[in-house]
Amino acid sequence: MSRAAQDAEFRFNRMMNSRMKIRVVQKQIQALPADAVIVNLFEGADMPTGAAGAVDAALGATDGIPGDGAISRLIRLGDFTGKHNEVAVLYTNGLIPSPRVILVGLGRKEHLTLDRVRQASGVAARKARDLGCRRVAGVVHGGGMSGLDARAAAQAVVEGALLATYQFREFKSDGAAQARNIDDFTLVEFNLSRIQAVSRGAREGELIAGGVNTARTLINRPPNHLNPAALAAWCEEMAARAHIGCTVYNEREIAENRMGGLLAVAQGSANAPRFVILDSKPDGRGQPLVFVGKGVTFDTGGISLKDPAGMENMKADMGGAAAVIGALQAIGELELPGRAIGLVPLVENMPGGQAFRPSDVITMMNGTTVEIISTDAEGRLILADALHYAKRYEPRGVVDLATLTGASVIALGEGVAASLFSNSEPWAELILRSARHCGERLWRMPLYNEYGEKLKSDVADIRNTAARNAGVGISAWFLKRFVETERNKEAYRWAHIDMASMMFNTDTKGYQPRGAMGYGVRTLVELARSQE
Ligand code: BES
Ligand code: MN
Ligand code: ZN
Repeated sequence: MSRAAQDAEFRFNRMMNSRMKIRVVQKQIQALPADAVIVNLFEGADMPTGAAGAVDAALGATDGIPGDGAISRLIRLGDFTGKHNEVAVLYTNGLIPSPRVILVGLGRKEHLTLDRVRQASGVAARKARDLGCRRVAGVVHGGGMSGLDARAAAQAVVEGALLATYQFREFKSDGAAQARNIDDFTLVEFNLSRIQAVSRGAREGELIAGGVNTARTLINRPPNHLNPAALAAWCEEMAARAHIGCTVYNEREIAENRMGGLLAVAQGSANAPRFVILDSKPDGRGQPLVFVGKGVTFDTGGISLKDPAGMENMKADMGGAAAVIGALQAIGELELPGRAIGLVPLVENMPGGQAFRPSDVITMMNGTTVEIISTDAEGRLILADALHYAKRYEPRGVVDLATLTGASVIALGEGVAASLFSNSEPWAELILRSARHCGERLWRMPLYNEYGEKLKSDVADIRNTAARNAGVGISAWFLKRFVETERNKEAYRWAHIDMASMMFNTDTKGYQPRGAMGYGVRTLVELARSQE
């Protein structure tokens, strides 16, 4: 391996922070050598069944008699009820090869969903990791008699384990702590007829969680280490690994394309902008899905400077870009047959002698003139040019993701849900269904004409901000203005996701550790899969 390739691989491993190996075996879980085995229990069950029943029998005083083992005793004592995400650790005293059993509650059987499986798997895996376990084996929760599809359940279990144990330690100088994570995660399936489905699902879960963890790491990286040029270069490396296409426009090429919004926001920063195009089928024809992500590597607000309190969170203002990049990575690695394109405008919003200012009038890529009222409403300016650029692909549908407004956070709550806007009922439905399927919270909002009225300008075609009220709807209307033209009422089916509320998670919960959430990757990948 060349020196450069070695360096790249080292950085990649460091970045992924966990090289957790995922395997699938056909075996009885109680026979498996491991540091911990994970089995489950439904709420309200008076006896462990399935794999938990087999482990229980092996842990009985009289070997093999059902209902007599350590798990049964725990239930009878009332110490474990099977409530969703409840965990208990049992020590096996040499009765099975694994010294520990981790028991996780799935909640009531009739309430079981894929996301509950993902969460329970995450909680159990984190418990194992925190106990220092290196080799962990677990069953496919819900893959047995519960009516969930075995492939989808296996995907959820692996996603849960990889997402819940994610750590960002790139800037911790303590190397030993860095290594502490699960090395091997083995999915154990006893039923031979399900092995193929479980193996497929496990692989899919691994690649999708990889996309989410990529997004989390890009968000967590500080902006002095991840400016537009650095993120664009990272995209090129990722694209080579995932076998997808990547084109990067530098500032000159952005200017040649007359992307006036991107140029205006960029002009206050010493770090030049980039425009990245990722393409899962670089020599493919046919109508692609196009994903657009807001990539503001840091948002100071510019001349309309933000309040310093909490400004450090604005390193996550490229969360939309991270979602698109993570999704394209996963789509490439999954080798999905359909074509998906990611458009990522990258810029840093800074004040300074060269910065654009309130009252400036700029000309966007589509010729629209915009009067700048607030330089802090920068996201819509860079997205507008990217949305216009998207028309050349004659897309089957477009989704943009952006940490666009504080108003979206106020409306729906931090870490609770993102807001969805769309010019097409069926397209909105499809996206909502994808989000629901993969457990990402998304709520539809209206695009009333009144929001557009507010954007009238005395000197230009439109202004970039208006009143405080309905700030989330007004920003969505601004974007819609660049999707639809006078002549071409609906250039394409479009949806906008304002994910400002989904940047960071303040408390570890389920498979979401405290820190960057990596929101949006799973919905985009699921949307792409649903098109096959
Ligand atoms: N990146 C911010 C939005 C944001 C705020 C995300 C808080 C996450 C948390 C965006 O660029 C912005 O500054 N929006 C302004 C718009 C306003 C000037 C119309 C906002 O929401 O205050
Ligand atoms: Mn801003
Ligand atoms: Zn911003």
